[in-house]
Formats: sequence, C-alpha cells, structure tokens
Amino acid sequence: MPAKAPVISAPGPGIAADGDDALAGLFPREAPLVLDLGCGNGLFLTGLAACEPGWNILGIEKKEFRVRQARRRAGDLGNARVLHGEVLEVLSSLPPGSVSRVYLLFSDPWPKRRHAVRRLVQEEFVALLHSRLEAGGTFFFASDSGEYLAWTREILARSGWRIKDWAVPVDWPTTEFEQRFAAAGFNLWRLQASR
Ligand SMILES: C[S@@+](CC[C@H](N)C(=O)[O-])C[C@H]1O[C@@H](n2cnc3c(N)ncnc32)[C@H](O)[C@@H]1O
Repeated sequence: MPAKAPVISAPGPGIAADGDDALAGLFPREAPLVLDLGCGNGLFLTGLAACEPGWNILGIEKKEFRVRQARRRAGDLGNARVLHGEVLEVLSSLPPGSVSRVYLLFSDPWPKRRHAVRRLVQEEFVALLHSRLEAGGTFFFASDSGEYLAWTREILARSGWRIKDWAVPVDWPTTEFEQRFAAAGFNLWRLQASR
C-alpha cells in the first residue's frame, strides 16, 4: 500500500451526501480505497475486508443476485461495500486518483478469439484504470486462462505499466472461482501492474 494513499471521506454508511460521487456516504471511515471488480458472491471481498481493516473495500458487480449474496456475506463489516453496476460505468464515476488497489479476479476469459472483444481488459479499460488509480497504485489480475493473462500483459505493457508476477501470500483470501479452478486442477495465472 503506498504511504500517501488518498482517503475517502463519508458521513456514514449508506448516506448519499453528494449525487455525483459514487463514493459519497458509502463507508463510515476514511481509508485507502480498494476495488474488487466483478466481485461475484463476495467471498474474496469480505475475506480481504476482514484481514485488512484499514482498507475500504468496494465490490462492483452487475448481477443482482450476486450483489445480494455479496452484501449478505459482508454483513456488518464496516469496510466492505458492494455496488450494483457495470465496472466501466462505476469506475468512470469515481474521482480520478482515488483508488489505491484494484483486483480483477477470474474475470470471464471469453476464450474464443472472435469473442476477445468482450473481455473486460481492453485499451479503454486500462486507460480508465490508470486515471482512477493514485500514483503508485496497483492493479492485480488473476485468471485460469494463460491466454487472457498474456492479452492483459500485452495491453498493460503497451501502455507503459510496470508488470510483475503477483506472488500471493499463503494466508491470502481466495475467491469462489479460484477455489473451483484450483479444485479442478487448473493452472492459475497472476500478475500485478503499476504506473
Ligand atoms: C467468473 S465470475 C468471478 C467472480 C469472482 N471475482 C470470483 O473470482 O469468484 C465474474 C463476475 O464478474 C461479473 N461481471 C462480469 N462483467 C462485469 C461488468 N462489466 N461489470 C460488473 N460485473 C461484471 C459477473 O457477473 C461475475 O459475477
């Protein structure tokens, strides 16, 4: 976590103070903002919120039933919130430079070449990500698809990001899909990138 992470100020949980700012009133405390894009049932989001109480973790999820699952799982964790919406729309609505870390974990890989345009990681996504991350902020990506990882690496490299392997600590929270893929014996691929 960079030392000078921007903090998000909010009057209280669920109180919208300011119509235009998607973050207004979401979190009760000021803390570095961390995003889980396509958070699914919230397993990772809530695991991370529990191990990192000093971070505000915001999940973004487009499927309503997944949002309900994730919110139920988050219970009364003060530092975990889930927004129902499209990743690109929600990201666009966040203030520039307001995010410390972004996780995109086991996003749909769209393995057929002609479907690759449907992948979340595209040039415009990466440009938007860059604008919302603070200086020194980090993007974390994991996939069961080596091809999607190579695609993501290439787009990030073209845009001048510094890319490293992401070595996950042993006690790091897992995601629902990660558990499924690991149980099926798939290789899991990861990178982290910053600018
Ligand atoms: C394969 S699941 C992975 C869920 C979770 N990250 C995990 O690892 O268990 C992908 C999730 O991303 C959500 N999703 C896909 N595209 C999205 C988008 N553009 N905006 C918001 N959510 C999206 C899907 O609804 C789904 O819940």
